[in-house]
Amino acid sequence: MTANPIGRVRSAVDHSEPSSQVSTGEPLFSLRGAAVRVGGRTLWSGVDLTVGAGEFTAVLGPNGVGKSTLVKVLLGILPAAAGEVRVLGARPGERNTAVGYLPQRRSFDASLRIRGIDVVRLGLDGDRWGIPLPGLGGAKRRAARECVEQVIDLVGASTYAHRPIGQCSGGEQQRLLIAQALVRKPRLLLLDEPLDSLDLPNQGAIAALLGRICHREGVSVVMVAHDVNPILHHLDRVVYIAEGGAVAGTPAEVITSETLTRLYRTPVEVLRTSDGRLVVVGQPEAPALHSDRHTEGRSPRSEAGGRTGGSHAPGN
Ligand SMILES: Nc1ncnc2c1ncn2[C@@H]1O[C@H](COP(=O)(O)OP(=O)(O)O)[C@@H](O)[C@H]1O
Ligand SMILES: [Mg+2]
Repeated sequence: MTANPIGRVRSAVDHSEPSSQVSTGEPLFSLRGAAVRVGGRTLWSGVDLTVGAGEFTAVLGPNGVGKSTLVKVLLGILPAAAGEVRVLGARPGERNTAVGYLPQRRSFDASLRIRGIDVVRLGLDGDRWGIPLPGLGGAKRRAARECVEQVIDLVGASTYAHRPIGQCSGGEQQRLLIAQALVRKPRLLLLDEPLDSLDLPNQGAIAALLGRICHREGVSVVMVAHDVNPILHHLDRVVYIAEGGAVAGTPAEVITSETLTRLYRTPVEVLRTSDGRLVVVGQPEAPALHSDRHTEGRSPRSEAGGRTGGSHAPGN
């Protein structure tokens, strides 16, 4: 991407620092002239973005454009090929103990006996970064148990947390996984397509839960989303990625015909339906779409269910 008209715009929304976990004035993450290469191909370059702490941010864009790759860059799993990336005031990866991460969905086998509460507990015991904590003494064990109970209560999973996770519904499993990502009280919660494969009522419920976690609990939330509509009312900011670049701003600034046409360098039309949903028409797909879909194992329902931004492009 070349010029980025609104990439540096900070959200006008001020959630007045709801908790001490949010550091005043510090960007949650920023990219300056950043580029990323995978398999010898540059996915995006020249990206300038600043996302503020305390915001609920969605990362949007067509399949295969590099959304999950951005998440990997923020986690320090993949180095940026150019430019500077800062996360929570440090280099990517350095503050990962303050980051809760929910990877793109893996479903649980129905026969899996491990209970929901144990899955949440795994978030405390270091499975995420592969560093098991040493055995805990009595007081610490109690504190850990309370911590797990609190976070299960926060996500509304108390009634089924003792059931085997394989017997929980998709929405219940997703709440338990969000609890697992939250159990260490992160400052940043990073979620990769957490609404994928959920039905519409569950998408709305999880979106509302993430909005509460962000705006009431003071955890900055960044989520990759396939469709912006279920989360639109909760969002402060969107990062829209196209082949080559990205723009960021409030949903009203970014999800417009003018901005997306400029980003994609092809006519894109944003329509608003009578019930307030956004439909993006004409948004091009990334070139590696088909292999990407194959490798990610997307469900046929999510492929048919709309492209990013609730788009339904002609001829797709
Ligand atoms: N390690 C890798 N090696 C080669 N290609 C990769 C690798 N990781 C991702 N890709 C490719 O990069 C593109 C962007 O991937 P991804 O970030 O997962 O897209 P998105 O999340 O936007 O759908 C895809 O074409 C994908 O196949
Ligand atoms: Mg992805």
